[in-house]
Amino acid sequence: ATRPTTAARPPRAELHLHLEGTLEPELAFALAARNRVDLPFADPATLRAAYAFSDLQSFLDLYHATSQVLRTAEDFADLTLAYLRRAAAGGVRHAELMVDLQTHVARGVPLEDVVAGVARGLAVGEAELGVSGLMIAAFLRHRPAAEADGLLDDLLALGAPVAGVGLASTEVGFAAAPFAPAFAKAAAHGLRRTAHAAEEGPAWHVTEVLDALGAERVDHGIRALEDAEVVARLVREQVPLTVCPVSNVRLGAVASLGEHPLPAMLAAGLNVSLNSDDPSYFGGYVDEVDDAVTAAFGLTRDQRADLAAASFRGSFLPAEQVARHV
Ligand code: ADE
Ligand code: ZN
Repeated sequence: ATRPTTAARPPRAELHLHLEGTLEPELAFALAARNRVDLPFADPATLRAAYAFSDLQSFLDLYHATSQVLRTAEDFADLTLAYLRRAAAGGVRHAELMVDLQTHVARGVPLEDVVAGVARGLAVGEAELGVSGLMIAAFLRHRPAAEADGLLDDLLALGAPVAGVGLASTEVGFAAAPFAPAFAKAAAHGLRRTAHAAEEGPAWHVTEVLDALGAERVDHGIRALEDAEVVARLVREQVPLTVCPVSNVRLGAVASLGEHPLPAMLAAGLNVSLNSDDPSYFGGYVDEVDDAVTAAFGLTRDQRADLAAASFRGSFLPAEQVARHV
């Protein structure tokens, strides 16, 4: 099948994207060589062949291991720009990048280097590609909430250019509520708030992040459909849900694309956008996700345009900038 040209694609925002999840095997090996870090794989093809996951944790283990090649501000700038170039080619005009700052700091990479590198990549991307970008500090729910709180203090002390905070990593077995103080402090400092919920975990995890964390947006939220009350609230409040169908299939949350709840979510009136999550690992940038769900569900041109418009409306851009896109 021929790929539609960029011009034919609706412009969109990408709201659910982990910077570390954009690390392509070729760049991972280039950075490993540059930083003299050993990767436990012979070559990029062998690494890519290991991208067969049984669940979220099996993916996170490899994702955290591969992230170790990221050492310097330059690495983070290169990675950010590589993602923005690929995203722009697929019609992305605005991107909100979650970064797992705790993993990098725990490995001894200075926080200011990660932040400065991502910020530089975003600035170059905006200048070269005309793609706007925001950085979101994703707290890791498998690590202590006090660590997230300390990270936030460090970001505030640095005056780091982060637009918001998020909550990612292992969902089942690690509660969201302990992160309430960090989210409250973020809100008090004018930061926006998003959180993963109901990817692998039950529908009430959505309620938990809305009520305990004051999340303005929910990442995934697919299992919300299992609870009619949760769905009714999400519809009533039009909470943006950043849905990642290809990720859900690759991590086994959904058995096949054809069985993905996206059509049911749209029919219920939920405020859904399409996203890639970790495009390098799941074999799909957001334009490819759009193509895949269009093929699986026969989405109309209007439905695709509505999903693209929802991506801008669900963004953390100021209202006047959203208005320029939709
Ligand atoms: N970190 C990167 N990708 C993730 C996902 N799909 N769920 C939770 N944490 C993540
Ligand atoms: Zn995610």
